[in-house]
Amino acid sequence: MLRKDIGIDLGTANTLVYVKGKGIVVNEPSVIAIDADTGEILKVGMEAKKMLGKTPSNIKAIRPLKDGVIADYTIALIMLKYFISRACEGFNLFKPRVVIGVPIGVTDVERRAILEAGLEAGANKVYLIDEPMAAAIGSNLDVEEPTGNMVVDIGGGTTEVAVISLGSIVTWESTRVAGDEMDEAIMQYVREMYRVAIGERTAERVKIEIGNIFPKKEFDELETTVSGIDLSTGLPRKLTLRGGEIREALREVVMTIVESVKNTLEKTPPELVSDIIERGIFLTGGGSLLRGLDLLLEKETGISVVRADDPLSAVAKGAGIVLERINILKKLQGVG
Ligand SMILES: Nc1ncnc2c1ncn2[C@@H]1O[C@H](COP(=O)(O)OP(=O)(O)OP(=O)(O)O)[C@@H](O)[C@H]1O
Ligand SMILES: [Mg+2]
Repeated sequence: MLRKDIGIDLGTANTLVYVKGKGIVVNEPSVIAIDADTGEILKVGMEAKKMLGKTPSNIKAIRPLKDGVIADYTIALIMLKYFISRACEGFNLFKPRVVIGVPIGVTDVERRAILEAGLEAGANKVYLIDEPMAAAIGSNLDVEEPTGNMVVDIGGGTTEVAVISLGSIVTWESTRVAGDEMDEAIMQYVREMYRVAIGERTAERVKIEIGNIFPKKEFDELETTVSGIDLSTGLPRKLTLRGGEIREALREVVMTIVESVKNTLEKTPPELVSDIIERGIFLTGGGSLLRGLDLLLEKETGISVVRADDPLSAVAKGAGIVLERINILKKLQGVG
């Protein structure tokens, strides 16, 4: 077969493309830089992300997805086309079948926008798959057996909690609180505590370097330096931040995520809950890499927690291989 099946995780933070037989072929931030005067695309992905917050007035670095859905349709379409065409390089004769992961919480209008974008970007057929289902398949969980599996996918824009059994999502919650809100909480903390403004990329770096959410001495000892603008003098200022304070700054956001997991467990039938207790809660998505998140979830739910081996690429991989799973494919919404 010359036709390709492609799985896409069009994430708020990162876009990944998985091609069957090749693996992950695109892994770039979901950012695009355009010339504000002419509309010309200047950079896509990593090169564009470097420009966030640093652009002169005639250049705009845009994140076209917000909270897991398309916020700027025109720009998202350009980005999707760019990534699909990169994935298909050298295979221009056969249009691919494309499966795109979407948050469960998206509206019908948002679903249609994404399906259309896929077709316009050059797909032969486009299917949508719920992200936690893709994450579960991509992590090799057997979603078709009559056993409950709980997946918690914490991305940049959304946290999706789902219990899957017999190839379907039985109970779920989707919250528009995830990694981006953690960054915002850090920015807000630094502004309030030190009267210093830092950018979102700096906040993300702080989160990755010293972010944590469980009281542990080794987390307290983490530290990093940031530069920002002193709000009283308007001059640049350097600060040292420590693990303990960042943990406090992140508490509220993370507790929202924990509540969402607990709510989903409460809605889940007891037989499936006992499967989950047996197998553990499965964590995917970049936000799940926050230090101690697994420990906090274990403490709060009393259930063991397992992080996926490769939490950032599970959705793209699952989307790329789901077309082989005919029983699940039948349940997917598609066009083309
Ligand atoms: N080591 C880390 N610790 C904490 N957070 C991290 C780490 N590495 C990445 N992240 C965060 O993970 C998020 C991106 O994860 P992911 O790529 O799964 O999101 P996404 O799929 O693009 O978003 P969504 O699913 O919400 O649309 C970002 O907020 C990023 O800062
Ligand atoms: Mg995601």
